[in-house]
Amino acid sequence: MLVLGVESSCDETSVSIVENGKRVLSNVINSQINIHEKFGGVVPEIASRHHVYQITMVFEEAFKAANVKPEDIDLVAVTEGPGLIGSLLIGVNAAKTFAMMYHKPLIGVNHLAGHIYANSIEHEMKFPCVALLVSGGNTELIYMKDHFEFEIVGETLDDAVGEAYDKVARVVGLPYPGGPHVDRLAHEGCDTYHLPRVYLEEGSYNFSFSGLKSAVINLAHNQRQRNEEIRVNDLCASFQDSVTEVLVRKTLKLAEKRNCKVIIVAGGVSANKGLKERFMAEAPKDIEVCIPSIKYCTDNAAMIACAGYFQYMKNPKLSDLRLNAKANLELESM
Ligand code: KG4
Repeated sequence: MLVLGVESSCDETSVSIVENGKRVLSNVINSQINIHEKFGGVVPEIASRHHVYQITMVFEEAFKAANVKPEDIDLVAVTEGPGLIGSLLIGVNAAKTFAMMYHKPLIGVNHLAGHIYANSIEHEMKFPCVALLVSGGNTELIYMKDHFEFEIVGETLDDAVGEAYDKVARVVGLPYPGGPHVDRLAHEGCDTYHLPRVYLEEGSYNFSFSGLKSAVINLAHNQRQRNEEIRVNDLCASFQDSVTEVLVRKTLKLAEKRNCKVIIVAGGVSANKGLKERFMAEAPKDIEVCIPSIKYCTDNAAMIACAGYFQYMKNPKLSDLRLNAKANLELESM
């Protein structure tokens, strides 16, 4: 089954063609990072306008790269939410128009499910599993007993991990998005600042990063006021050590409690090298830790096509040409 995936929830316009939720024939991504960089974050109105300029060309490129014709597509899958409403609308309307023109079924995909199913490209989806979803807007620990069965066991009580990374990066003068820069510098420094590890109460699977973020901000301000030099590499390493320790240990604890032999790491922050290294170092040998390659960690339409495929396989009745963009869509089981 050939699935056309469309993603436009934030600042990437992406169209992809994937066979059977696994074989990627094309995955074209037009990123706006360098447009938003100078504002220190995504400007929603600029993002939607840019999607409008790009979407038709990105569709054309995806078909050309896959060497397939529109008639060959069996299913259209589009991100319906969560995300920036103006951005989502562009992808949703483009996908709807295509589905109507070529009489294809259309399915709406939750962006977060997309991140989880990015793993189906390079790994077999096995259940039960624990998914750690870490992105710019989300931090969730999810138990999945089957396809599209999401039990959210833990989540952040304040900032998402990616958001904390971006704020810390800004405080030490690194460009947006800060996550990859903090990750890189962390590998050139050592955990000498010994920042707090926030585990919350005994047995909790929730997360909190705002205290850690404030600790970094206060530390940087105090050092500046005292005219002391901030050791940026060490500060990045200390921040990353604190974040990855809590993420990895809570995930492993849940996997052990629910007797899961598979852990899926998903979302933009799953590109973090420190996180991967810690999982590899701390996970017991009988647990398989699946992390997508970098190109499938951040926003892309291949992951939407994959999620759409498994969703449609589970319930083809979900196909609906009247679907609409939903900025605050929750991750729900079906
Ligand atoms: O999933 P994503 O592409 O967008 C959504 O939030 O949906 O995630 C973007 C986030 C940003 O906060 C970015 O700084 C972070 O992922 N990120 C990283 C790394 N690469 C991207 N954070 C830490 N380490 C990285 N290597």
